[in-house]
Amino acid sequence: MTAPKRKVAILLSGRGSNMIALVEAAREPACPYEVVLVASDKPEAPGIAWAAAQGIATWTLSPKGIGKPAYEAALDAALRHAQAETIALAGYMRLVSDTFVAAWRGRIINIHPSLLPKYKGLDTHARAIAAGDAVAGCSVHVVTEELDGGEVLGQAEVAVLPGDTPDTLAARVLAVEHRLYARTLAEFVAR
Ligand code: GRF
Repeated sequence: MTAPKRKVAILLSGRGSNMIALVEAAREPACPYEVVLVASDKPEAPGIAWAAAQGIATWTLSPKGIGKPAYEAALDAALRHAQAETIALAGYMRLVSDTFVAAWRGRIINIHPSLLPKYKGLDTHARAIAAGDAVAGCSVHVVTEELDGGEVLGQAEVAVLPGDTPDTLAARVLAVEHRLYARTLAEFVAR
């Protein structure tokens, strides 16, 4: 008998390339998780259209006009309706509230495009280049009340090359994000 798969919901705001990597990894029979919901604060996010076309359940709501507490309450209800056990943030460009973190304590993870604890927040690649770093990368971490501050679950490194721009470095990091996130999420749900 195979173990039941852990139910994962993915939150995104944009193109969703990390979400796609997680969904594709979940198609492997041995993958310990399944994607039960892809949700977004941006109804027009390309990642939502992709997920819907795959037949994955999707949920969207814009917080504009209703405010963050009402938005997050509706999101929470959608996650519980989908029976989500773990939430994977994948380019979700909204700060989650302390209330939301507390409700899902230890069950929300995120991928961040830097080698944490370096470069929390935005513009990570530009900051790594400006600092003259030889190595950049990405981190998967547990989401807590502190921005990009929870336990680091896994990291992957890439070289910063002469002539790199934030865009060329971002593209090199993104390729390793996809592998790191799928592997780390699988380890996280199994632990
Ligand atoms: C990635 O660089 C991720 O590290 C960051 O936001 C970006 C999302 O890209 N949190 P995508 O939507 O997964 O393509």
